[in-house]
Amino acid sequence: MKTVQERAGSQVLRISGLCKSFGGLNVLSNFELEIPHAEDMAVAVLGQNGAGKTTLVNLITRILPVDAGTIEVYGNDVLSLPARALAPMGVGRTFQTPRLLLDDTVLDNVLLGSVAQGNWHGQARRKLLADAQEALEAVSLADQAGRAIRSLPFGSRKLVELARALIGHPRVLLLDEPAAGLSQVEEEHLAEVLVRLRASGMTLLLIEHRMMLVKAVAQRVVMMASGKVVFDGTVAEALDSSVVKEGYLGTQVAG
Ligand SMILES: Nc1ncnc2c1ncn2[C@@H]1O[C@H](COP(=O)(O)OP(=O)(O)OP(=O)(O)O)[C@@H](O)[C@H]1O
Ligand SMILES: [Mg+2]
Repeated sequence: MKTVQERAGSQVLRISGLCKSFGGLNVLSNFELEIPHAEDMAVAVLGQNGAGKTTLVNLITRILPVDAGTIEVYGNDVLSLPARALAPMGVGRTFQTPRLLLDDTVLDNVLLGSVAQGNWHGQARRKLLADAQEALEAVSLADQAGRAIRSLPFGSRKLVELARALIGHPRVLLLDEPAAGLSQVEEEHLAEVLVRLRASGMTLLLIEHRMMLVKAVAQRVVMMASGKVVFDGTVAEALDSSVVKEGYLGTQVAG
């Protein structure tokens, strides 16, 4: 029989009764979501613009305070912890708009990810460089390490943003619209990268409008509307769901 600790640890994420409003705008109201640990798992989160997807990530990562509810990551009550405790626990995230220093190199921007995650102190420079190199290899950008961000196309900048999250060796990665603004070729490349990460055992929470990426990467689809989960099922079920189709006005799901 499993102990309570082991059961809790088998959940990557457990969100219960989560509420968040901005002024009079209720963005999340009694939002519930559980992601059990499973090898090779990606969960896509769909929802119209303004549905609260980024807010959800900002609440999980403690950038925003919650109004009510609980959030557990690997059985830990993250609401009792500061934001800096998340990365050591194995939580990584990317931002919807890449937060990069345009005049600095790809490598320096990835290394800065380590500073942002609080991992800089006490780590040997050689180890950090090796981690940055590994993160860049994971997104196929190792040969661009010395280039300034400003000289890179937007698609590559999004990959640097991803590499910046990977330097912390996350066990669960929260991706906020990684394909937004990418060309189809870039999106296909991103899909390959994410499938590889998933296959390496990383759990992905993929916020995304682009259904090609969702279909290529995710096994489970959750749709948010009116502050709640209004659909939760497999990708095939999502593509067949009137709730999902209506949520996307029948346009993006078909694509
Ligand atoms: N810090 C904030 N202060 C006030 N309102 C906010 C704040 N952050 C988000 N909102 C509002 O909360 C709602 C949800 O925003 P959020 O960014 O979470 O949506 P989203 O689902 O990520 O949308 P998109 O698909 O456009 O990225 C929106 O109406 C937004 O304007
Ligand atoms: Mg958003």
